[in-house]
Amino acid sequence: MPCDRVTRRGFLAGSACGMFSLATLRLPAELSALPVLEVEAQVSGNERRYPLPTADGATVDRASQVILVRYAGHVYAMSLVCPHENAAVRWLAQDGRFQCSKHTSRYTPDGTFTSGRATRNMDRFPLHRDGAQIVVTIDRVYQSDKDPDGWNAATVNA
Ligand code: FES
Repeated sequence: MPCDRVTRRGFLAGSACGMFSLATLRLPAELSALPVLEVEAQVSGNERRYPLPTADGATVDRASQVILVRYAGHVYAMSLVCPHENAAVRWLAQDGRFQCSKHTSRYTPDGTFTSGRATRNMDRFPLHRDGAQIVVTIDRVYQSDKDPDGWNAATVNA
């Protein structure tokens, strides 16, 4: 089944890239003991499918600019792009948060803005669970300042 094949390949790619990811990404303190993997999505139109995270941590899909975070019983799909001026957002293990690489806006692990030049939280993609997969729709995002209810609802229970 293509889905399973892609999923396994994604997991293998994640394993293969895990060392690279650990060297280049930084985890929030709450997640610092957990793996950060890069993964390939199963691509179908505007949908990206990922294995349901089985433990707290992050999965990065650089090709689609999506980061999946499982944290505190929830899974989120957030944009890797800072909502201020579209720079990359990174994990900072020593501080337990995301931080923008350009103007250092700060965000909690669930994408909540805490300080800096940005004026809203990290954007979240719509997502839903389909069995053992998370399906993310990447042609739209919820912006916390324009659609706070949508932004808050853009999560699934882990
Ligand atoms: S681009 Fe991220 S704070 Fe400016």
